[in-house]
Amino acid sequence: MISGGNASSLPLVGGLPEPTIKELSKPGRRAFNYPKLDIDEETIEHECLKIEKAPLPEVSEHDLVMHFSRLAHRNFAVDLGFYPLGSCTMKYNPRFADWVASLDGFSNLHPAAPQKQTQGALEILNVLEDYLIKITGMDYASFQPPAGASGELTGLLIIKKYLIENNFDNKKNIIVPDSAHGTNPASAKMAGFEVIEVATNEEGLIDVQELKKLVNEDTAGLMLTNPNTGGLFEEDIIEIADIIHSVDGLLYYDGANLNAIVGICRPGDMGFDIVHSNLHKTFATPHGGGGPGSGPVAVKKFLKEYLPGPIVKKNKKDYEWYFPDKSIGRMHGYHGNFLVALRALAYMKLLGKEGLDTLGSFAVLNARYLSSVISKVLPLAYTKPCMHEFVSTSKELKKSHKIKAYDIGKALLDKGFHSPTIYFPLIIEEALMFEPTETQTVETLDELAHTLNDIIDDLKINNDKLTQYPKKLPVGRPNELIPAKHLTVNWGDFELLEITE
Ligand SMILES: Cc1ncc(COP(=O)(O)O)c(C=O)c1O
Repeated sequence: MISGGNASSLPLVGGLPEPTIKELSKPGRRAFNYPKLDIDEETIEHECLKIEKAPLPEVSEHDLVMHFSRLAHRNFAVDLGFYPLGSCTMKYNPRFADWVASLDGFSNLHPAAPQKQTQGALEILNVLEDYLIKITGMDYASFQPPAGASGELTGLLIIKKYLIENNFDNKKNIIVPDSAHGTNPASAKMAGFEVIEVATNEEGLIDVQELKKLVNEDTAGLMLTNPNTGGLFEEDIIEIADIIHSVDGLLYYDGANLNAIVGICRPGDMGFDIVHSNLHKTFATPHGGGGPGSGPVAVKKFLKEYLPGPIVKKNKKDYEWYFPDKSIGRMHGYHGNFLVALRALAYMKLLGKEGLDTLGSFAVLNARYLSSVISKVLPLAYTKPCMHEFVSTSKELKKSHKIKAYDIGKALLDKGFHSPTIYFPLIIEEALMFEPTETQTVETLDELAHTLNDIIDDLKINNDKLTQYPKKLPVGRPNELIPAKHLTVNWGDFELLEITE
């Protein structure tokens, strides 16, 4: 058995545990037929040709469809229920955007098609660039990065190249808050910088006095998300930007939390020099399962020539690709994840200016409402009013009744809600981070709060139930340590990792 969960909880097919696709396989079965050959058959001879057949499962079309449909139904999804996963912005993706992306002219477009024949696609990227720079307060953008973390690396490589070109080779430190997402220090390190951590104060904001002590001639820049990962707006952002700029450092905006401020304020006006936007978060394109996402990077004018290329430029008559002069190069094959960018544009057009201007306000309203009801059972980590997300803590419940954030998350899964993000940010003990997004109704928010209340009341009385959740799901409590230490993604090897409790 792979997890602490129990094999008998697997959905049964005809009274038997669900077979794997390999177990369904029968020699000679096919889910497709090739059309009859209407040309002469050729034999290809090459020393690299594989002789033996690949050991692929052989199944009928219906078996294949049933198998993957059954697997899909085991997953929790934004389309099935409330997904309050803080720092991830799991909002509903309107079908309209999917429909646009599925149109033949877009989905069958080859990325190497000549620019003369793809003027419409180039225009889409150009218009979206225009919208994005208006929303973020920047000047130019590139769609190369396929996700937020890749956007971060892009931004840091831009900082690196800019510093070298301007004789600031001494600058080697990137400052990140201790509450930052793990990708921030990882990206800084990948780009060849040293990471310096700045502390969060008791209010949940960057400790500006501490920051002043850390900033010096070696400072290359600061990475910050605003609102920060505690869901609080960094009120001292103008002073923070001045501190970094006073030593010729640059300010990088991690756009994971842009959803809170769209239509309210702009990173460019706060003093940021580089911004990535997670189109797969803020602009409602599917998120999760590793992507594909889109993390376009936007910069102020003085950094334009460092952007990764190719980028679309509008001439008098048409659109064309160009490669900036001092570009850091490519971050992705071809032009980034075009269909994700297209979905984002469709979403923006669907909402219009009025919709985009109120998006952030509704996200904040929902989070403030939910935080006020939840705080009665799960105290908030900080007292300042939150923005689009907030962090609660089960620290006291753990002391009094041994109830951990993990147990609450697992029980919620059993009751039809996705768990909030737990144990992040790392600086908050027994953290549960909720992000309702603007797409939930007040009834859904109330239902989550009531369910949480019931779970905690029940666990307080029946402490033995603590480790029993989830009872209804195919996988119970996977051992998280073993996969972290021995990453195996192959089914055969996976079985070898037998864990007996
Ligand atoms: C604050 C923050 N920064 C960066 C990222 C990385 O973004 P991505 O998952 O698109 O790589 C995340 C991801 O959730 C995040 O929450």
